[in-house]
Amino acid sequence: MSWRSFPKIELHLHHEGAAPPAFIRGLAQEKSVNLAGVFAEDGSYAFRDFAHFLQVYEAATSVLKTPDDYARLTLAVLEQSAEQGVIYCESFLSPDFCGGRDLGAWREYLAAIREAAARAEAQMGITLRGIVTCIRHFGPDKARETALCAAETAGDWIVGFGMGGDETRGKQGDFAWAFDCAREAGLKLTTHAGEFGGPASVAQALDDLRVDRIGHGVRAIEDPALVDRLAATGTVLEVCPLSNIALGLYPQMRAHPVERLRAAGVRVTINTDDPPFFHTSMTREFDALERAFDWDEGVFDQLVHNALDAAFCDDATRGKLA
Ligand code: ADE
Ligand code: ZN
Repeated sequence: MSWRSFPKIELHLHHEGAAPPAFIRGLAQEKSVNLAGVFAEDGSYAFRDFAHFLQVYEAATSVLKTPDDYARLTLAVLEQSAEQGVIYCESFLSPDFCGGRDLGAWREYLAAIREAAARAEAQMGITLRGIVTCIRHFGPDKARETALCAAETAGDWIVGFGMGGDETRGKQGDFAWAFDCAREAGLKLTTHAGEFGGPASVAQALDDLRVDRIGHGVRAIEDPALVDRLAATGTVLEVCPLSNIALGLYPQMRAHPVERLRAAGVRVTINTDDPPFFHTSMTREFDALERAFDWDEGVFDQLVHNALDAAFCDDATRGKLA
């Protein structure tokens, strides 16, 4: 069986970052929002580097103003993923974008997203779980408010808490209060680390935030002792290879450390991050990995199983997916 027919699992997907450009353009027209500078001439998202990517991301997201906008986004995103053979996906949902960290508004956004996800599950057989996400460059105070929103809505289909944003700002440990709050509410934890921060950022995520998984984590490769630690502890990395290449971390797939991490015994998974921004999809990731590293089906099967094992859902849901 080719990996093309495998049911796939996605653990690292930003809800807004998965918005098809045509969807965002359509909403901008409906709401008369000027999105100058967001799109390239060919209609794709345009950005120069990571800092600019974050700006364009926030500008594009500014057209998503109501719970109903998020319901429509959810359907568009899950349809796109289901077309790739994805049967289960965890997406990053941010109270910063959904109601400005007001708990009442956040609940309304979540209800709309959940309702849309239930429709997508019935129609397309794809299951969504949410990871509530703070944004690092918004600072630790906003992260606390985000964690409180997460704690109040934990359980059911909200299964995790995470952090994205600019990893070069501050330290992981600055956000320990937020992560402790989320852990106490029963949420599983992940943070972006070892993407634009070096290996020390990965070690801090493990030591100071005590996360269950690492978002990206690829720059751990720069510290062999850390690679050994990740392998020995079975820490799962949410690797997003084509995102890393699009953002200039590595010049091409052959230079990407995912194969060296895997060969060293680290439990890696493959993910798309913000697929339309990086011109990627699950199929494109797998295809590029197969061509660069000559991986056979057994390797892809292992990667999908790593993702299933590391999913933050409950065991009953995991059992249905297996
Ligand atoms: N938010 C959306 N995509 C991101 C990425 N690749 N790194 C950090 N924050 C993000
Ligand atoms: Zn990400």
